[in-house]
Amino acid sequence: MAPDNIPPSDGYTRAGVVGWPVNHSLSPRVHGYWLEKYAIKGDYVRLATPPEDLKKTLRGLEKKGFRGVNITVPHKENALKIVDCADPAARRIGAVNTIVVGKNGRLEGSNTDGFGFLENLKSGAPRHLGRETCAVVLGAGGAARAVVVALLDQGVGEIRIVNRTRERAQRLIDDVVNFGGIPDGVRLAAHPWSGRNSALDGARVLVNTTVLGMNGRPPLAIELTAMAPGGVVNDIVYSPLTTPLLTQARARGLIAIDGLGMLLHQARPGFRAWFGAVEGTADGLPTVDDDLR
Ligand code: ATR
Repeated sequence: MAPDNIPPSDGYTRAGVVGWPVNHSLSPRVHGYWLEKYAIKGDYVRLATPPEDLKKTLRGLEKKGFRGVNITVPHKENALKIVDCADPAARRIGAVNTIVVGKNGRLEGSNTDGFGFLENLKSGAPRHLGRETCAVVLGAGGAARAVVVALLDQGVGEIRIVNRTRERAQRLIDDVVNFGGIPDGVRLAAHPWSGRNSALDGARVLVNTTVLGMNGRPPLAIELTAMAPGGVVNDIVYSPLTTPLLTQARARGLIAIDGLGMLLHQARPGFRAWFGAVEGTADGLPTVDDDLR
């Protein structure tokens, strides 16, 4: 591995993750696994960056030989303001999680969280998304934004957003509606946190995007009885992998999908953009293998 303060030489590609703190990030392990698997010369390093240094770090990437970076907590929204251009997903979500350093150091932002969410959901529940689907999203932060936009793009007929701070859920809805609108007949509504059990009435999909259930956080208190039979529960929390929410879902015969898959899938487009298309897959994206879990 080349030291990260010296630009790597020809034929060697460097990428990384920018966050604060960034020690907890699993991304170096994921990209390191793929670099080895596909025998690519390169590395993926952590760039611990406090908020006041974000611009300096991003503008300094080209000089340090970086082909691009992932952006993680707490920088995703600010990164959108710094990049030179952003793809429609990033603009609709209001956040950037992937940057490619283009010609003359041009910073090209994108957001692959929605892609990662959908790939993960579809891998466990391939037939759960359609106009007849009612989906409930718990939370209204950055992750919820990516999930809501992805579900709308899949043609889901109704989305109920349940958040502790109801105004934040309404703001999310207003932003999505103002940015490109929503298809005719699709229902998008904010529900109070206190009514979360009844908001599940007839829901075929439930996604938890809140921090509840995560190690060190309070548990998520919710009762899944009103969900549609055969429904799917996706907790985007991945630490622990099996949350009490998923345990309850399984006990009720619902499909339970953990959050690690979203993390792994959102990493794939960035890897292809920085290190090149991998051989042996139809889309050139690296594969999510059991070894990564
Ligand atoms: P992210 O970008 O990962 O979505 P975030 O923006 O901090 O993270 O959002 C965290 C979500 O967890 C929010 O929906 C938050 O609710 P508020 O908008 O009311 O803050 C939710 N959350 C955090 N702690 C909570 C709690 N104790 N009870 C209910 N919801 C909680």
